[in-house]
Amino acid sequence: MLKIAHRGAKGYEPENTLKAFQKALDLKADGIELDVHLSLDGHLIVMHDETIDKMTNGKGFVNTLSLSELKSFLIADQYEIPTLNEVFNLIDKKCLINIELKNADTAAKVVALIHQYISEKSWNYEHFIVSSFDWNALLEVHHLDSKILIGVLTETALDTALTFAESIKACAIHPDYQLLNQENTRQIQEKGFWVLPWTVNEAKDIQKIKSYHVDGIISDFPDKI
Ligand code: G3P
Ligand code: CA
Repeated sequence: MLKIAHRGAKGYEPENTLKAFQKALDLKADGIELDVHLSLDGHLIVMHDETIDKMTNGKGFVNTLSLSELKSFLIADQYEIPTLNEVFNLIDKKCLINIELKNADTAAKVVALIHQYISEKSWNYEHFIVSSFDWNALLEVHHLDSKILIGVLTETALDTALTFAESIKACAIHPDYQLLNQENTRQIQEKGFWVLPWTVNEAKDIQKIKSYHVDGIISDFPDKI
């Protein structure tokens, strides 16, 4: 069962920073999860919200700021906002990278970056899984390269997610963990999909979800899994 560090090890370090991703490696996580947006000048920026207001000493929408403007603001007075390729370089094939596309406009750039790391740096498809609540973004990824592993995110509709996952030959369903029970977990797995629920942090919830024999858990505290 995969232990996947949500936004890096968010329980221990500021989310979606290189510090948080390094912490995930230190905790021997099997994977990291992160969120991407596009900057004004087309760079893939690792940030959860569409604005930088909550996480940095700056303000504004990620897609209205250039990379150099974004880099001028700090997270927790210390850390730069990372780009996706900076995170790839830090992880350096040491664990799985779950890239959550926050918008469909990131899809083509993420596919291109994956291709670059596969062709130039000897990474392989198993190093990445692309997920999104925006299923059009996943459709675009699938059309650009059907070999890229896809996880279908859902917080409400397990059945619809499953039907969509079948249509694009996704490899996983990423449900809100509260949607799961023993029976539907088994049914999803019998259809050939991994079940990778999020965001499971409390010991009692981790215990319950593990008892369903899911394929992995996305948690702010990967070491608790
Ligand atoms: O990928 C699982 C989880 O990260 C989705 O929710 O809001 O934390 O991006 P959120
Ligand atoms: Ca996320």
